[in-house]
Amino acid sequence: MFAVYADAFSSDDPLSGLVVGERPDPTPPEGWTTITVKAASLNHHDLWSLRGVGLKKESLPMILGCDAAGLDEDGNEVVVHAVISDPDWSGDETLDPRRSLLSERHQGTFADKVVVPRANVVPKPASMSFEEAACLPTAWLTAYRMLFTQGGLKAGDTVLVQGAGGGVATALITLARAGGLKVLATSRDESKRARALEIGAHEVFESGARLPVKVDAAMETVGRATWSHSVRSLRPGGKIVISGTTSGPNLDDAELTRIFFLQLQVIGSTMGTRSELASLVNLLDATGTRPLIDRVLPMEQARDGFAAMAEGDVFGKIVLTR
Ligand SMILES: NC(=O)c1ccc[n+]([C@@H]2O[C@H](COP(=O)([O-])OP(=O)(O)OC[C@H]3O[C@@H](n4cnc5c(N)ncnc54)[C@H](OP(=O)(O)O)[C@@H]3O)[C@@H](O)[C@H]2O)c1
Repeated sequence: MFAVYADAFSSDDPLSGLVVGERPDPTPPEGWTTITVKAASLNHHDLWSLRGVGLKKESLPMILGCDAAGLDEDGNEVVVHAVISDPDWSGDETLDPRRSLLSERHQGTFADKVVVPRANVVPKPASMSFEEAACLPTAWLTAYRMLFTQGGLKAGDTVLVQGAGGGVATALITLARAGGLKVLATSRDESKRARALEIGAHEVFESGARLPVKVDAAMETVGRATWSHSVRSLRPGGKIVISGTTSGPNLDDAELTRIFFLQLQVIGSTMGTRSELASLVNLLDATGTRPLIDRVLPMEQARDGFAAMAEGDVFGKIVLTR
């Protein structure tokens, strides 16, 4: 079958190990099902895989891609849940120490077909295109869990989203608005601040600027560069939910005094559960909110999508179609 896969690693030139070619058809193990892929979307994770991060050499060649939407064996339209937990694990699969993401241990979604455990599919509503649905399983699911599960935010609360131009951050802004929150966002870049307003932020600020109000929660994916500002922006008892550290994980000042004195909470967040993916799909179906798509490319042109992501020349998701 047609597939886009990693054949080698390179930290300096990740695209050198990318192959757009053919791989054998997959055979689903007991309890797994075959999904015919209609659309898949790119994540930074795919570039990291080509750099050899999170992927072992003995797993090569590995078909890339975490996110997909397509048809199940009965022709139903489905969204694929990318978190694969151990068959013996029960409960929140993000807490399974042996969990993996598609394309880490099991072949990924940039192909004609992908096999996943039967439980790892969620019905796709007819209102949503395959391209839109394919954006949801990684960045959008991460954003959903940060806001509504780990952050415990509800309609009427105020949230700060740091680094508005990022993939997770744009999802956070759009989903927070759809969920009835007041959304404040920061970015270093004026044009990204303008785009943040277009996709749902109520107010935007330069990174580090003093905010007019204290917020109930701050959503962090930037890390070192914005941490102090996030802590200082919270009301007493407020929460920081963190799912990434793009600018680095080490802090000059962790603001520990503020954290205990104002009784703040710092909460980690990673991916999401199948049930949260179903809730995310329902939220978009009910509100008409849709993921922002930067461009749609036929999967044969995957290399162009990877190159755009490597250059950072993207606002929204890059979708690959079959
Ligand atoms: N835990 C999970 O499940 C999960 C899932 C997906 C991603 N992640 C992680 O989340 C992080 C963000 O991923 P992403 O794909 O959203 O990244 P991204 O698209 O590269 O965006 C990161 C954003 O960080 C901001 N930023 C970067 N350096 C900065 C600096 N020095 N000062 C201020 N702002 C800075 C930028 O915002 P502005 O240019 O707008 O200022 C940038 O748009 C990554 O670390 C990723 O690994 C985690």
